[in-house]
Amino acid sequence: MNLALYREFRPKTFDDVVGQEYIINTLKNQIKYNRLTHAYLFCGPRGTGKTSTAKIFAKAVNCTHSADGNPCGLCAECVALNEANTDIIEIDAASNNRVEEIRDLREKVAFPPLIGKYKVYIVDEVHMLTDSAFNALLKTLEEPPAHVIFILATTEIHKLPATILSRCARFDFKLLEINTLIEHLRHVFDSKGIKYDEKSLHLIAKAGEGSVRDMLSIADSVASYANYNITFDVAEKVIGLSNRDSIKKILQSLANKDISALFTSIKEVLGAGKNIQVLCKETADFIKNLIMIKVGVGDYAVLDILPGEYAQIADIATLFDVNFLKRAFSKFAEIELNLKYSLNPENLFESACLTLLDDGAAQVNTVAQSTQRVATNNVKPTQTVQLQPVQEAEPQATVQPTAPVQKSETDRVWGNVLIKVRENNLFALSNALTSVFKVEEINKRLILHTNDLSSRDLIDNKDKLDVLLKLVNLFDESITKIEVMYDKQNASTQDIKDNLKEIFKSKIKFKE
Ligand SMILES: Nc1ncnc2c1ncn2[C@@H]1O[C@H](COP(=O)(O)OP(=O)(O)O)[C@@H](O)[C@H]1O
Ligand SMILES: [Mg+2]
Ligand SMILES: [Zn+2]
Repeated sequence: MNLALYREFRPKTFDDVVGQEYIINTLKNQIKYNRLTHAYLFCGPRGTGKTSTAKIFAKAVNCTHSADGNPCGLCAECVALNEANTDIIEIDAASNNRVEEIRDLREKVAFPPLIGKYKVYIVDEVHMLTDSAFNALLKTLEEPPAHVIFILATTEIHKLPATILSRCARFDFKLLEINTLIEHLRHVFDSKGIKYDEKSLHLIAKAGEGSVRDMLSIADSVASYANYNITFDVAEKVIGLSNRDSIKKILQSLANKDISALFTSIKEVLGAGKNIQVLCKETADFIKNLIMIKVGVGDYAVLDILPGEYAQIADIATLFDVNFLKRAFSKFAEIELNLKYSLNPENLFESACLTLLDDGAAQVNTVAQSTQRVATNNVKPTQTVQLQPVQEAEPQATVQPTAPVQKSETDRVWGNVLIKVRENNLFALSNALTSVFKVEEINKRLILHTNDLSSRDLIDNKDKLDVLLKLVNLFDESITKIEVMYDKQNASTQDIKDNLKEIFKSKIKFKE
């Protein structure tokens, strides 16, 4: 279950926005004293309130009964704007970044607003515009009609041309102070009837690293996992899982045979204060999960993962051959004990990784077909050391009958999208996507098959689909739509158990 707290608690008035006091005061005053300008630039890290503030501002400039600069929510204009946003036009530059779209916008800005005094264009992620689109936008910014206000928002201000910067009133949104976050989280939990203790509150707020949105997404996972009753142990467990990101990186570099990435990711974990023995144990545990997923286990009681993590880990499992995983599992299990007595445990761990990397059988790029084993000697180590763990899709090589099954273009795109989702810390989306077990492309539409009804409902809404399409388009521009299909998948439990017994021999027991 997923609460989508960040959406439920989207601020509706300026007074709901936490932190950012300087910005909020200035904007309120501009409205109160009618000192509006035609172009605003909201920049700053993600999840700090840029889009929310832009939307509030767009309503406030049209509200006829605004109190202290806030939109009243009740006047004819506020009501009309809440229903049909004809005068508040949100453009996501990430998916509408072409010059044609901006030209289209230039033609439309000439028409007066239908509801209130102003037409407000909110251009989100404006740094994603192409050069020619920037130039087209610039023309509009030079001579905007009196009834138009632009709000450009971006997380990457350094990517904007100086010509745009110089035409906008700039507001820098800041990461939030830990205490502000704590108090906001307290308010959210209290109003949802979620129980917590002070220590957990602090831990979750801290994990948000200054972003309200990230904090609420993490709070979401913790609250659903803890069933509305948050204890420090659970919070720590859920948050601690982010250690897995490092393990995933290590495995990814093994799959890519990327020595440089391998050393970097090991260094990263150790630099973060992690004990090498713990790392080794967690790596072994993680690999155990990969093996189980590979053979089809879907039971969280057996797997040591969160319900939300399944699809992502399954995706990693597709990078490896089950025989390789078995060897890796024994290797890490074997050195775990030796690490304790080693004078240089780091070297021991690294050398274990290198042995695995050399063994030339890490990967099969099939889509999780445990039945379709690939002879290990079919896969040759790549010659070059790659610096990027994940590469953009390359044209597919001609498939020879004996060659390992290639991951389809769609799967590659999807794999890259999943990584982007994680990189951008879209926890809620990432959780929901874990139920997607198959992705196919039909007539430029990407169909996501999920075997979980509640996840389908979570993915299948405009917000999420918009974000996803944006990310998909980074790797495949031709996709125009994403659809989610519920698809009950039947795996026989007996098959799964047999498979597991095969692999773990006596080390695994099932409750009958
Ligand atoms: N300053 C803030 N005050 C209150 N909630 C916020 C704030 N910043 C972000 N949020 C929360 O995060 C969600 C996303 O915020 P958003 O305005 O889209 O951030 P940004 O555009 O800066 O990435 C909101 O729906 C809200 O729940
Ligand atoms: Mg935004
Ligand atoms: Zn109003």
